[in-house]
Amino acid sequence: MIDELAEKEKKERKPVEKEPKNEPRSDSRKIEVAHHEPDASVKKVKMKAEGVCAWFGTKQALFDVNIDINEKAVTAIIGPSGCGKSTLIRCFNRMHETVPGSRFAGDIFLEENSIFDPRMDPVAVRRRVGMVFQKPTPFPTLSIYDNVAVGLRLNGTRDKKTLDEVVEKSLRKAALWEEVKDSLQKAGAALSGGQQQRLCIARSLAVELEVLLMDEPCSALDPISTSKVEELIHELRQNYTIIIVTHNMQQAARVSQKTAFMLNGKLIEYDSTEKVFTNPANKLTEDYITGRFG
Ligand SMILES: Nc1ncnc2c1ncn2[C@@H]1O[C@H](COP(=O)(O)OP(=O)(O)OP(=O)(O)O)[C@@H](O)[C@H]1O
Ligand SMILES: [Mg+2]
Repeated sequence: MIDELAEKEKKERKPVEKEPKNEPRSDSRKIEVAHHEPDASVKKVKMKAEGVCAWFGTKQALFDVNIDINEKAVTAIIGPSGCGKSTLIRCFNRMHETVPGSRFAGDIFLEENSIFDPRMDPVAVRRRVGMVFQKPTPFPTLSIYDNVAVGLRLNGTRDKKTLDEVVEKSLRKAALWEEVKDSLQKAGAALSGGQQQRLCIARSLAVELEVLLMDEPCSALDPISTSKVEELIHELRQNYTIIIVTHNMQQAARVSQKTAFMLNGKLIEYDSTEKVFTNPANKLTEDYITGRFG
């Protein structure tokens, strides 16, 4: 059944006619090697976008985006409003296709496998490639505990001891446990904005998460909550691959190892964060990071 649905989705997706390749593209000239990162050579590619194009109806939002995302590293995506940052990361966990009238072409790999492979269940892709949004989105009527346990329960886990363990572990990993351990039955909506954002991160961590997509996760938060989430990103990168969209240049520079600059649906520059912020190769990147537009 899942296979049939996946097959149907695959057909509707109208992919670009080409064979998925696992070896690096010989013409991936837009992607420079992050030679400024001392450990770049040992970094494994966790996700790879090849020739990604995306449309909303007739409006094209992404144009031939090619990008390799390093494993257990933070990749920042920057660029002016409307340049396609959210659309790109929503392609990475197959959320773009949930928008009525949307279209997609190209391919995206999670390790060796295309996420659009008919054998890949989109729901399973979204468990492995989770997302947190600008506005924290806990289930408002569910308790803190249930917000974290929801994914496991949907997967069929009923055992209380297992649920208790995973809830505690996820809240600890999200640096929220100490603040909520005595009020796990309180509604998720009763937490502060920053706590709610960490609760949403805990919810993603409770399932088999490998990649965390964060779309402006701090833009609705105060400076203290922001620094807590930034510290958390730093911790999580030991075990997870993170892609963060941010309008805040200082934040991109603080939290990421690689930075991608987008403009008008195109990837303009992608390199080590240090290089992009100190010596960008493209004049457009320089103009953007020095505040000349956007
Ligand atoms: N649901 C939608 N329907 C139609 N057009 C859309 C939709 N979502 C985005 N777009 C368009 O696609 C383009 C890229 O939008 P996207 O949201 O990816 O930009 P962004 O870089 O995330 O911007 P921001 O920084 O403001 O969040 C924009 O021109 C936008 O108007
Ligand atoms: Mg956006």
